[in-house]
Amino acid sequence: MYDEILALRAIRQFSDEPISDEDRLRLLEALRWTGSSKNRQAWSWIVVTDPDQRQRLIGCGDFMTPVERAPMAIVLVQEESGYEFDTGRLAQNLMLAADAIGLATCPVTLHRESMAADVLGLPEGVRARYAVAVGHPTVGSEPGRMGGRKPLETLTHEDRYGG
Ligand SMILES: Cc1cc2nc3c(=O)[nH]c(=O)nc-3n(C[C@H](O)[C@H](O)[C@H](O)COP(=O)(O)O)c2cc1C
Repeated sequence: MYDEILALRAIRQFSDEPISDEDRLRLLEALRWTGSSKNRQAWSWIVVTDPDQRQRLIGCGDFMTPVERAPMAIVLVQEESGYEFDTGRLAQNLMLAADAIGLATCPVTLHRESMAADVLGLPEGVRARYAVAVGHPTVGSEPGRMGGRKPLETLTHEDRYGG
């Protein structure tokens, strides 16, 4: 598990193979069991596989190549009393679960949130700013060029900021 956490990368290229019903259920269960503030579970998700709906979703973000190429996108929905932090936890659980069953993922941002609300039919006060593209990795599914991380010593403070 530890090695998988360190090795998890955003993948933007997928084969044409659809996600099986069994894998779909496993992904959705991983979402369902994510922890949330006060266990409110003030969230839901929209599984997008319809090609026309996918096209409309692609129009909602600026860097949507992963969704263009993936057989499935899961839009993470923040219900009215939900927190963005919890949405982040959902995304990470989904990505790690997908990796564990041999699938690849890439999170994407829906920069045009009001357009996304329209496309997805969200009620007033309900938000969807992030989605995760899901597919089977294929040849050429190398991580993007933006990989790598800052050195640990530049990220870690002791007791106080700057310490
Ligand atoms: C909140 C968030 C939004 C992201 N949005 C996009 C996106 O719109 N399009 C995209 O191709 N990648 C997106 N990514 C993926 C990041 O670019 C990627 O995680 C980062 O470059 C580090 O690469 P790695 O995850 O492969 O290590 C997003 C990642 C996060 C956490």
